[in-house]
Amino acid sequence: MQLPTGKRFLTGDRPTGPLHIGHFVGSLQNRVALQNAGNEGFIVIADYQVITDRLDTEAVEKNIIDIVKDYLAVGIDPAKSTIFIQSHIQELAELTTIFSMLVTLPQIERNPTVKEEIHAMGLKNKVSLGMLSYPVSPAADILLLQPDFVPVGVDQAPHVELAREIAGRFNRAFGEVYHIPELMLSHYPRLVGLDGDQKMSKSRGNAINLSDPPEVVELKIKKAVTDSYTTVVYDPKKRPIISNMLTLFSVVTGQPPEVIAQQFGSKGYREFKEELIVAINAFLQPIQKRRSEVSDDEVARIVRNGTARARGIAAETMKETRAAMKFHYPKIYG
Ligand code: TRP
Repeated sequence: MQLPTGKRFLTGDRPTGPLHIGHFVGSLQNRVALQNAGNEGFIVIADYQVITDRLDTEAVEKNIIDIVKDYLAVGIDPAKSTIFIQSHIQELAELTTIFSMLVTLPQIERNPTVKEEIHAMGLKNKVSLGMLSYPVSPAADILLLQPDFVPVGVDQAPHVELAREIAGRFNRAFGEVYHIPELMLSHYPRLVGLDGDQKMSKSRGNAINLSDPPEVVELKIKKAVTDSYTTVVYDPKKRPIISNMLTLFSVVTGQPPEVIAQQFGSKGYREFKEELIVAINAFLQPIQKRRSEVSDDEVARIVRNGTARARGIAAETMKETRAAMKFHYPKIYG
């Protein structure tokens, strides 16, 4: 695929835990490629989004530091990609208030990501108002920084669509302020977790984290669910569980899954798992080496600088927004 160049992009993560191999293939790798192709990156750490479904905030700061270390370890360069904290840009809260008036209830209620997350939480009356309306917050993240495009996976695509709708609605109501960003969809298939039936996820305990030491990788792979066959065959329809593990093997070695399957054939799962452990650890080793070279102080500096830089752009966009809405009150404030 031809990468754009000379453009601005924005994407983000929720600081709920360490990043894993699924994040690497689905999005981190792409961010690094985009930044190195001469695009200007913005990465929002969406801490408000953490409290949509939990009020325990004990680990948030540590999670932010860990995520930034993961970013740096995979090659995100703070000189090319600005990393910032959502709750420390006040304009994001202002813009979320304004944008929430530009969104109708049906627009929110048909958002498939919100539906799925609410469903996963069980009882509907436990759902906070902020959870229901949360897609307005990424829309503010996106539009405030005025990116040209937003690279995300399919589950986040509805949020980008909503941001585009909000931008259009604002511009029609108050005048052209917002640039309407493009969606850049990641086509990489979601990695399935080690439990064999759900996507690899921070919160489901079924992932290989980028920061997992070799003994943890070994334990996780040994415990990973397998099927009751004995041969290693790549056939996602008939043999999904072993095929998912072959996909993981393929991701960490760069070899096609069919080729790996042929190498094992009838050697059995034990040997396959042993080789998979070796391959994952070889893949993680250089990432972890770079990770170990980053200090907490360096992370703190990068995040403070990134947030300050994002704030500068935020203030500009907010000024234009207020003026367009006639909320700058020249008779009162001159
Ligand atoms: N909603 C994203 C997630 O759950 C994180 C996020 C917040 C985001 N704001 C964003 C992603 C803006 C892309 C653009 O992972």
